[in-house]
Amino acid sequence: MSRDSLQKKLEELRSLIEAELRRLADGRLPDSFYEPVRYTLAGGGKRLRPILVLLSAEAVGGKAQDALPCALAVELMHNFTLVHDDIMDRDALRRGRPTVHVVWDQDTAILAGDGLLALAYQQLFRNPPERLARIGSLFSEGVLRICEGQALDKEFESRTEVSLQDYMEMIEKKTAQLFSVSCGLGALAGGGDERSVAALSSYGKWLGLAFQIQDDLLDVLSPEQISGKPQASDIRRRKKTFLFVHALRTASEAERQWLLRMYASERLPEDAVQRVIQLFESLGAMEQAETLVEDLLAKARQELGSLPETEGVSHLRELTFALAGRRA
Ligand code: IPE
Ligand code: IPE
Ligand code: MG
Ligand code: MG
Ligand code: MG
Repeated sequence: MSRDSLQKKLEELRSLIEAELRRLADGRLPDSFYEPVRYTLAGGGKRLRPILVLLSAEAVGGKAQDALPCALAVELMHNFTLVHDDIMDRDALRRGRPTVHVVWDQDTAILAGDGLLALAYQQLFRNPPERLARIGSLFSEGVLRICEGQALDKEFESRTEVSLQDYMEMIEKKTAQLFSVSCGLGALAGGGDERSVAALSSYGKWLGLAFQIQDDLLDVLSPEQISGKPQASDIRRRKKTFLFVHALRTASEAERQWLLRMYASERLPEDAVQRVIQLFESLGAMEQAETLVEDLLAKARQELGSLPETEGVSHLRELTFALAGRRA
């Protein structure tokens, strides 16, 4: 399996997903509700979660087409979480465009998020009745886990001491769970057996953990022209990212006190943001994040070892290598 073959596959699946997403809210009224929904869905993004659904269906020998409703459901749900996340994180940029609550206002963004979640359930109900109960309960548990994770993320903003274990639990819920659910849903829709569903769900979990740690890293390293998101937003919001947690664990007492003082103030001055980044760097936080990402991606690959080697499995394996160097 070559990288070219994966790229071709990703393009094929992405255009399938894009075409379907565009149709969903087409021509609906009132515009005051559907315009921000359409704006969000037309914003692009990597479409990684629906791709995981479709590849997981193929990995168990099923057809991507059969998993399309689940794929659309997870992307819609993901978009709902992003619209609300940008309100919660007070971010003005997403996918290189102003966020919904900036283009319109906060009330509109709350409602657009609600609508996206309802559209997600609409897609989910297109599944055959014999699979619906299982698929529906997996999906709903996923939504709840994300809300739990987002609650912890907010809670940690005003907490000084956050351990690595606390952090891992938070990202498991806010991010890894949806990756895991995406793979599990794909395996179910593709007709996979219990062992394949479990293996692919675990694969998704490791991938999702790696993905969020990378996201924390890119917040600092990736310019907004590339990431499409405001750079260093996590520091301004006093987020307890992997970099911060690592820094707290490895800093000298003086550095630790300084960092805690910085994160205790409501507004960090711009030069302090830069100094925080320098401290993260001098403590090796970025390298440590990269090492952990590699370890987690290797764990994801390991899960695939228990499955019969199909083309879908090898695409999922190749995807872990492709994600390792992502910049957006
Ligand atoms: C952003 O997810 C939210 C995180 C869990 C970090 P993505 O980076 O997958 O966002 P899009 O969909 O590609 O824009
Ligand atoms: C992931 O966390 C959030 C979701 C579960 C939606 P972030 O807040 O880090 O995501 P970005 O960086 O804004 O995309
Ligand atoms: Mg955010
Ligand atoms: Mg957030
Ligand atoms: Mg982030």
